[in-house]
Amino acid sequence: MAGRRLLGKAFSSGGGDISVIKRGRQFFSGLFARLSEKDYTFAIDRLTEPELKLFMTMSAYDQKHACSVAMALEDESASLDLVRAGLLHDIGKAMCPELTLLRRSAAVFLEWAAPEDAAFLADRGRGKMAKALKAHRMHPSIGAVLLREIGTDDYIVALVEGHQSPNEADCGEDALRLKRTDDRF
Ligand SMILES: [Fe+2]
Ligand SMILES: [Fe+2]
Repeated sequence: MAGRRLLGKAFSSGGGDISVIKRGRQFFSGLFARLSEKDYTFAIDRLTEPELKLFMTMSAYDQKHACSVAMALEDESASLDLVRAGLLHDIGKAMCPELTLLRRSAAVFLEWAAPEDAAFLADRGRGKMAKALKAHRMHPSIGAVLLREIGTDDYIVALVEGHQSPNEADCGEDALRLKRTDDRF
């Protein structure tokens, strides 16, 4: 019964679920991700020079993902602050070399399937997978520190810092929109 529930959840595509199909698609598109001219211009036009420098240190996959999130928000008439937060929300991952595409997919799946084990491993485990799990949990706060250092607005820093908050009830409207759009890409 529990196994059937887990399988159902794994292959569902609704809400904030991490469906296997969706994550599998993200993994393979990540392998070939590349910033287009349009993406690059979009980022240049909306980020300050120090923010753009940081943005360009992210992996091609993260740059592409950030542009997709920010463009979707802009298409839905989000404020410029929220669009900028979309571009910057995963900036902390630039400081986490352990977080390769394969390990982050494993981290997302483990956090979903066995959250207590994932937390234990992140806190006390050794090796690259444990580091990747820790980095995956910490990248919002790492990003917030980086952005504060280069003078990004406090409101945007707060959105970045809270974008993985497990409790949606604590989120304001913009934070919720960022979280939900992030989940789509
Ligand atoms: Fe993130
Ligand atoms: Fe993200």
